[in-house]
Amino acid sequence: MIHRAIMLLLCALNLNQNQRCRLNTRLHFGEPLPVILRDNKLLEPTDAFGNIDLKHGDVLTLSCEEGGSLTHPLALRSESTATVTCEGGDSFKNEQWLNSPGTFREFKCLYPPNYKSVRTNRSCYDNHQIFEVGYRIQNRFYPVYESCFDQVNLNAIYSKYTQKPYNAFYQTRVDRPFFIADDVYGSYVPVNTLFSPAGQKSAVTQLIGAVAENYLTKTQFLSRGHLAAKTDFAFAFTERATFHYVNCAPQWTGFNGGNWNQLEIDLRNHIHAVGCNAIIYTGTFGVTKLASDYGRRVDMYLYSDENNNPVIPIPEYFYKVVYEPSSKCGIAFVGINNPYYTPLEAREMFFCEDLCRNNRNFSWLTWHPDNPAEGYTFCCTVPNFRATVPHLPEFKVNCLFT
Ligand SMILES: *[C@@H]1O[C@H](CO)[C@@H](O)[C@H](O)[C@H]1NC(C)=O
Ligand SMILES: *[C@@H]1O[C@H](CO)[C@@H](O)[C@H](O)[C@H]1NC(C)=O
Repeated sequence: MIHRAIMLLLCALNLNQNQRCRLNTRLHFGEPLPVILRDNKLLEPTDAFGNIDLKHGDVLTLSCEEGGSLTHPLALRSESTATVTCEGGDSFKNEQWLNSPGTFREFKCLYPPNYKSVRTNRSCYDNHQIFEVGYRIQNRFYPVYESCFDQVNLNAIYSKYTQKPYNAFYQTRVDRPFFIADDVYGSYVPVNTLFSPAGQKSAVTQLIGAVAENYLTKTQFLSRGHLAAKTDFAFAFTERATFHYVNCAPQWTGFNGGNWNQLEIDLRNHIHAVGCNAIIYTGTFGVTKLASDYGRRVDMYLYSDENNNPVIPIPEYFYKVVYEPSSKCGIAFVGINNPYYTPLEAREMFFCEDLCRNNRNFSWLTWHPDNPAEGYTFCCTVPNFRATVPHLPEFKVNCLFT
């Protein structure tokens, strides 16, 4: 009798267990993925491993607005936005739209939904304006990250977003879209062409002459360098939103794929390992120089505007400031965006004492700080960083983030 009661109890628990839903960023999200909302916010994993736990009856909103319609093999008709309700496991229902509960992975858009930038009325460094990049769904805007953008010099100053432990489990195999600019660069600046191989060659040649050939080679040229990285976001729709020119600056390929990429990977894994939520400011500073045909060192830009002012600087530095608000610990990681400086020249450009070098507290950081092809790199305290780079908004820092 008691045995039977226990069995029944176990069955009931099991049934309840089965009725919960668990989705994982690596397993249950199809492509092109709709934008997904939960409780009127962009969906976020609920644990550090990319799982999203839902109770039976919990509702998600799926939207392909401006990306064609929502698709599912069990769909009865075409919709651009629909809600689906957790039935158990990875099965979700909507009796009006689907002829029976369907697997989550099959919810897709005909085309990836379009993200866009919105100019806010908030200002950032030097009275520039903050842009938000995200999705408009049913007349509400859902930002993914924000950028401080200089519309005079056409320079992405920094992008700001929050990294959490689950970011180490971002959705994989997400196609890279083309970068978009909306109207941020003005209608007269062909930003996409300027970043192309032909565009950058022509810009650099105009500034320094035929010697440009020695700098723009098969292995070193200028990439569209992301500030907020694609894989610093968990889902296809948030990853795609990073492909916006307010979040982009010319970055040498060796640095882009070398130490900068390594920093992104190490930081994502470290934030996962220590289990904190960190605010990340990723930005650019200064204008890099190359020696001309006549040996003169010239500031490098991709374009001159209608008044003949140079715009779209090739930054001297890329940086990532990491700030953990609950402990008030912070740090600045800095890389030099120029493979043609000698080690001696690079060392003179370190604007603080390098805290990461030979420091066991940074053994998680596996970059190669002295390799010019991968980008020279160093670390500063936030106050020391601020003494040179005046971009960051005010926040109190009490300790070093390690
Ligand atoms: C800024 O924009 C927000 C949202 O659009 C609005 O509520 C607020 O009144 C605006 N503030 C100013 C100073 O214009
Ligand atoms: C490493 O971190 C510990 C604990 O925060 C600190 O006491 C120590 O001084 C740090 N070591 C170095 C070399 O900075």
